[in-house]
Amino acid sequence: MATLHKYDAVVIGAGGAGLWASLELARDGVSCAVLTKLYPTRSHTGTAQGGIAAALGNMEPDHPDWHTYDTVKGGDYLVDQDAAEILCHEAILTVVELEHMGLPFDRTPEGKIEQRRFGGHSKPDPDNPGKNIPVMRACKSSDRTGHMILQTLYQQNVKHNTQFFNEFQVLDLIIQANECRGCIAIEIATGEIHIFHAKAVIIATGGFGKIFKVTSNAHSLTGDLVAIAYRRGIPLEDMEFFQFHPTGVYEKGILISEAARGEGGILFNSKNERFMERHAPSMKELAPRDMISRYIFEEIRAGHGVGPGKDAVWLDVRPETINKYKSAPGGKQVTAEYLEHALPDILEFVRLYEGLEPMKEMFLIHPTAHYAMGGIPTDLNGRVLRDETNAVIKGLYAAGECACVSVHGANRLGTNSLLDILVFGRRSGLDAARYAKQTDFGDISPTSDELAISQINTLLNATGKESVADIRKKMQSTMDNQVGVFRTGDDMKQAIGVINDLRAAYKNVSLMDKGKKFNTDLLEALELGYLLDLAYVTAASALNRTESRGGHAREDYPNRDDVNWLKHTLAFQSDSGVEFRYKPVTITKYQPQERKY
Ligand code: FUM
Repeated sequence: MATLHKYDAVVIGAGGAGLWASLELARDGVSCAVLTKLYPTRSHTGTAQGGIAAALGNMEPDHPDWHTYDTVKGGDYLVDQDAAEILCHEAILTVVELEHMGLPFDRTPEGKIEQRRFGGHSKPDPDNPGKNIPVMRACKSSDRTGHMILQTLYQQNVKHNTQFFNEFQVLDLIIQANECRGCIAIEIATGEIHIFHAKAVIIATGGFGKIFKVTSNAHSLTGDLVAIAYRRGIPLEDMEFFQFHPTGVYEKGILISEAARGEGGILFNSKNERFMERHAPSMKELAPRDMISRYIFEEIRAGHGVGPGKDAVWLDVRPETINKYKSAPGGKQVTAEYLEHALPDILEFVRLYEGLEPMKEMFLIHPTAHYAMGGIPTDLNGRVLRDETNAVIKGLYAAGECACVSVHGANRLGTNSLLDILVFGRRSGLDAARYAKQTDFGDISPTSDELAISQINTLLNATGKESVADIRKKMQSTMDNQVGVFRTGDDMKQAIGVINDLRAAYKNVSLMDKGKKFNTDLLEALELGYLLDLAYVTAASALNRTESRGGHAREDYPNRDDVNWLKHTLAFQSDSGVEFRYKPVTITKYQPQERKY
């Protein structure tokens, strides 16, 4: 017998988006529960390193319009420009409010919030009219910015008595008569089922990078609610766009923040050439991620890779290199002491995972699957959209990486992710509070937990011969090899075939642990089901888009095609697999142009 709870609003996920949404609900006196399969302070927001973008202009002239332009151009013009305007203009008040909440930002000697450079963030070059150069726009707390944001927002929620349900994994959404009326969750410690009856539900569960093998994403990033929404008939937008961060620790994928390059770090190939000078003469190592990841692969393909498999390039953050190339902001001279202060975690990661001293040696890096630009479609207030006419599902919201609003278009700029989760987490919380106050509880069916329970029983009683771990491994290597930085139609067709076979095999998995308490075997099996769906939609959407744009680079369609593809993809689950529909990109001020850096 399930336990029933009743709250005005339920937030699923306790990263930055969820915690700011719940804070708005709690501050507004709306009863609110936050459900998280982890503990709030272990959410993936805590791993965000380099900073949060806001055109404060504390270090040098800057403007939110320049930030908007960079975001639109960085996203290869697939960005909805009204959303980007909100993102970049509300950035200022977001950072100021975080500061007022007590977040310990780094400071300039005058006491202002200190900022650093990040990829794709620029200002007009005073010496070269028409050209742009890097600007210091990322507000930061050393290289632990996400950690500080998470702690700050959690403390604020505790102060406002938000009710947390930790280690509760959501299994289903209750959607009746085009209204979301709650969700079903399993309590991991006991295996008990809980029904959360609510007027509004906000999905804020982050990304699904675990569809890939080499990824910066934590083990928990399995896209549970993105897949559940898809299974419940909600389309997924722009799933073909997955970002590869250029600098992951070789073979392990652990993130080496772009802040390392913002502070002056340089990429070298086997010829000791600073190859980004050739590819992006103005922005160099601070060009957008999609481009740098492609250029790294091109260097490797041209035989200029380094490392045991000649499939990596060097990242050099040694002070003597930065000083020789004058690559630090303003060409300033840096010391090891300064870099230890600016990049403590990054340098420690290199020591720990590469076993070398980054102040004395270069280290190997390789692109790592990092961020989903696509996800659950929403409007500017986080309301989930159910089709290409932008019709909403009442009471259902999504914010952060699981959502697609779409501020990142085809490629996200670094530091715009922390910003997105907070700006649209807040907007979702505010709108959900308004909605919950003016709405009565809808009835929920007595069998609303039926599907979740039957899924669990099927898995617990299964006697098949297939292994969850083997299927996951095959899915991840297929996605790495055939739906990665460079793609071709043939590769993706093969990948879809393999994923379909794996989905069939998944029906024959069995579990070792048949118990109820802390059954991580069961949870991993459920998560694999979500990942398989999302890997399939990602590959199918990528095959469908016959152009190259942002993070989607097709060797068989190498050019951007604005005539046919300046539009968003909506992928719906259908009997034959997936059905695609489209909706236009919102363009306000910035007409598509060729991207040059
Ligand atoms: O490179 C980084 O610090 C990552 C930041 C981001 O993904 O926004």
